[in-house]
Amino acid sequence: MSTKKAYELLKEIKINEKDIVSLGYLGNLTVEGGNVEVVLSIPKELENEVFDLQDRIRDRLLSAGFKNVAIKTRLKEIKTSPKSPFAKRKLQGVDRLIAVASGKGGVGKSTVAVNLAYALKHLGYSVGLFDADIYGPSISVMLGLEDERMKVSPDRNAFIPPEKFGVKTVSFGMLVDKATPILWRGAMFHKAYEELMVQTLWKDVDFLVVDLPPGTGDAQLSLAQLFDISGVLMVTTPQIVSISDVLRAIKGFEKLEVKILGIVENMSYFICPDSAKKFYIFGKGGGRKLSELTGIPLLASIPLDEYITTSGDNGIPVVVSHPDSPSSKEFISLARKVVELLK
Ligand SMILES: Nc1ncnc2c1ncn2[C@@H]1O[C@H](COP(=O)(O)OP(=O)(O)OP(=O)(O)O)[C@@H](O)[C@H]1O
Ligand SMILES: [Mg+2]
Repeated sequence: MSTKKAYELLKEIKINEKDIVSLGYLGNLTVEGGNVEVVLSIPKELENEVFDLQDRIRDRLLSAGFKNVAIKTRLKEIKTSPKSPFAKRKLQGVDRLIAVASGKGGVGKSTVAVNLAYALKHLGYSVGLFDADIYGPSISVMLGLEDERMKVSPDRNAFIPPEKFGVKTVSFGMLVDKATPILWRGAMFHKAYEELMVQTLWKDVDFLVVDLPPGTGDAQLSLAQLFDISGVLMVTTPQIVSISDVLRAIKGFEKLEVKILGIVENMSYFICPDSAKKFYIFGKGGGRKLSELTGIPLLASIPLDEYITTSGDNGIPVVVSHPDSPSSKEFISLARKVVELLK
């Protein structure tokens, strides 16, 4: 039994002629063999329909061959906009702020952030890049800026971001010694974050791309509480064993009232150089499935590309070194869509 099968069956369950998936009532779905766990997230005003709904779901899944069906139900409170203790502000010198996030580490967030930045630059925009991954900053490495330190303005009031191939780039790694472990947490982190972002002279930046660490920790919270985020891109891979990590991250941003622009599937396929045939090494359709489940559009499917791997070593992003490669074309198409969505 597959997740897809369970998902299709849940789409048959309707409330007032609309199915529960499109209504956004499916919070999570996990399938392991014949066992299925459904998490429902439904509005409080439908409280009286919970038992009937659970019965209908259970009957449908059991009759289709699932052996064990567990259903958890959360009632969503009516939304009272949570007031942040910090007033959100628009970052001076920055027109739009785009955050690149994921539920899990290692899916290619930094790769997407860097190449989206250069794809936007390729389209003629002025771009900044901020590495908010305080514990594992990798953008400096990807751009060969490991030894770069922040310069300070003559009045000593602001940081001047170093530029690489015309993109202004800032990372916490540029403040400290490489050997110094950073153990900032909570409020301290919030403050450091705010200062580094605010005190950087961005100046006339059309798009600031922020690479976030995975999950929903301090960085996500600080960014969303402090600044007006135009939108978030969620990076995922085609192989989603359990979509719960990504869904949790999406829910986290929704709770912070931050708009998710779209999903980017990375490492989607490999194009054989001899036959130009696509091979779906890590499975197929994870991004599409996530898009169907959440109603968030799938904006790009980035292929596996050896130039991406080598660009990590030579400090030149693939969009700069090989702008005509299939992955670069997809990054540039992603950038176009992002511009369109943020118009
Ligand atoms: N499409 C791709 N083709 C080939 N290699 C890729 C691709 N995407 C990412 N990689 C490689 O996978 C590794 C992980 O990518 P990356 O550092 O961007 O992930 P991340 O999500 O930012 O990780 P972390 O959670 O550690 O911050 C890197 O070595 C990168 O070069
Ligand atoms: Mg990273």
